[in-house]
Amino acid sequence: MSPFLVTRTLPEDATDADLRADVLAGLTQSPKTLPPKWFYDARGSALFEQITALDEYYPTRAEREILLARADEIAAATGARTLIELGSGSSDKTRHLLDALTDLQTYVPVDVSETALRQAGHGLIAQRPALQVHALIADFTRGLALPDTPGPRLLAFLGGTIGNLVPAERAAFFSSVRSLLAPGDSLLLGTDLVKDEATLVAAYDDAAGVTAEFNKNVLSVINRELDADFDPAAFDHVAHWDREQEWIEMRLRARTAHTVKIPSLDLAVDFAAGEELRTEVSAKFREEGICAELAAVGLEPVKWWTDEAGRFALSLFRA
Ligand code: AVJ
Repeated sequence: MSPFLVTRTLPEDATDADLRADVLAGLTQSPKTLPPKWFYDARGSALFEQITALDEYYPTRAEREILLARADEIAAATGARTLIELGSGSSDKTRHLLDALTDLQTYVPVDVSETALRQAGHGLIAQRPALQVHALIADFTRGLALPDTPGPRLLAFLGGTIGNLVPAERAAFFSSVRSLLAPGDSLLLGTDLVKDEATLVAAYDDAAGVTAEFNKNVLSVINRELDADFDPAAFDHVAHWDREQEWIEMRLRARTAHTVKIPSLDLAVDFAAGEELRTEVSAKFREEGICAELAAVGLEPVKWWTDEAGRFALSLFRA
């Protein structure tokens, strides 16, 4: 068997059908919303990479700090022979983990981006020729069929991306994760933590305006894919901390009243002056809350680690 296998569980046209359905549903409801997964075309992914290097955006650095400090402990606590990574992207931070997992036989990166998977996979194989890499092109929010690989398995969901799901979606996601795990398997979860409003808002509204560009990029994606006529300059970037829900909301606020046409959906969307379109929820967590949500699906807390500054957490759970 070749050490690098790629399996596609997404139909080639799934992306287009999903985008159309999401845009139609999101822009015809009140308040208007768009799901954050559509930020990430090539430009959006590059902008996100730029965000991770901004002074204000601490989560990526904080998570890397924890991974570097704790990779050996994670390896010892899990004894993983298979690492499954949801939303693996460039598999960049995962290197620390892969290096520490000495018993690892198989790495299963899961992402919707085939290009990211192929690039990351080839890079890895060059470095670790004995490692079996079985990449899955899949949307993990739609349920996953995992290859049959040796246990114990460690399922990693890093970056704080879990925060993009609202509580009901999160519960459904955790229960589907639980159903993938056998006794002795583990879950490694990266979560951004609740902190002072100024730090949070700055992380989502940086001085250089990169996050604003990233936010508006979703409009360019819709223009290109669905032939819409959004004018990104007609919207202001908004980062709002919702202290009740404990999440950051990114929004796009219409500067003036105007209408956007999406001929391919046979749709005209009216915006009032000042109307806000919600483009992302990024929830922030507390230890008690996360442990309770995982206990509810039968996952036991094993470890809770934060960076020195206590901004971000990596936590380990066992089935
Ligand atoms: C990639 C989902 C973890 O929510 O912080 C960055 C995306 N949005 N800046 C996050 C994002 C605005 C990011 N995640």
